Amino acid sequence: MQIVLCDDAEHAAREAAKWVQALLVHKAKPVLGLATGSTPIRLYQELIALHQLQQLSFANCTTFNLDEYFDIAATHKQSYRSFMQKHLFNHVDIDQTNTYLPACSQGQNPRLVGLEYEQKIAAAGGIDLQILGIGSNGHIGFNEPTSSLASRTRLKTLTAQTIADNSRLFEPDEVQPTMAMTMGIATIMDARYILLIATGQAKAEAVRQMVCGPVSAYCPASILQMHEHAIVVLDKDAASLISDQQYLKVAEQENQRMIDMYGLQFIAE
Ligand code: GLP
Repeated sequence: MQIVLCDDAEHAAREAAKWVQALLVHKAKPVLGLATGSTPIRLYQELIALHQLQQLSFANCTTFNLDEYFDIAATHKQSYRSFMQKHLFNHVDIDQTNTYLPACSQGQNPRLVGLEYEQKIAAAGGIDLQILGIGSNGHIGFNEPTSSLASRTRLKTLTAQTIADNSRLFEPDEVQPTMAMTMGIATIMDARYILLIATGQAKAEAVRQMVCGPVSAYCPASILQMHEHAIVVLDKDAASLISDQQYLKVAEQENQRMIDMYGLQFIAE
C-alpha cells in the first residue's frame, strides 16, 4: 500500500484529486470507479474546481459506482444516483449516459443485475481507478464484515452498525434502506488502481485493521494489502493508530520526491 499522510481532510482531498486528474488527463477513455458517503464529497469539490479552471474534462470518462440502495427510485433524494448528480455529475462535462450504478428494483433479479453490471464494467475495459471510502467496521462499498473476499456485484444486507452510521443522513420519518447492491470485493480488486480515502478519528480503528491487521473477511478493506496499486490517503486522525508512524513519514517523503520527479502519468499506462 502507498500510504499518503495528510494534515487534514482538505489536504487529503487535494492529494486524492491529483490521482484522478492524472488519469483523466493522460488516458483517452478513462474508466473511473466512484464512491458515495461523506468522505469523497471534498474530492468531488476539488474535481469540480479543476473542471471550472478548465484543467479537467470528464467528456470521455465512463463511471461505475460501487453501490446503490436496493429498490430505490433513481429520483429519490436518498438514492446514490441523486448523490452523484448533486455532488459531481451536474457540475462537470460528463456524458451522463456513461455513468452507471448497480440499481436493482424489487421486480428484478439481483443475480442478473449483478452479472450485467460486471459485464458492463468488462465491456468498458475494466476500471482504471476505483475511489473508495471505508466504513467504521472496515467495509468497502457495502461489503460488510464476513463478505466473501471473492465476491462479485450482488445484493447485501447492511449491518446494524452501518445502518446506525448512515442514519445521520436520513430524516427521522424517512425509511432507511437495509439492503444494497454492491460491487463485490473481487470486483473492486480487479481495478488497476485503488484510491482509498479515510479521514477522522471514527475511522482510525478500521484503518489500523486495514493496514496493520491480518487479511480477513472480517475487515473487508484489509484485502487491499493484496492489491498491486492501492493508494491510501489518510488525514492525521485516521492514521493515528497505525504503528511505525516514523517509517510512514519517511516513506511518504520519498514517494513525494519520486512523484515530483516523474509525475503520475503512469496511472494511465
Ligand atoms: C457507506 C458507503 C461506503 C462508504 C462508507 C463510509 O455506507 N457504502 O462506500 O465508504 O459508508 O461513509 P462515510 O464516508 O460517510 O464515512
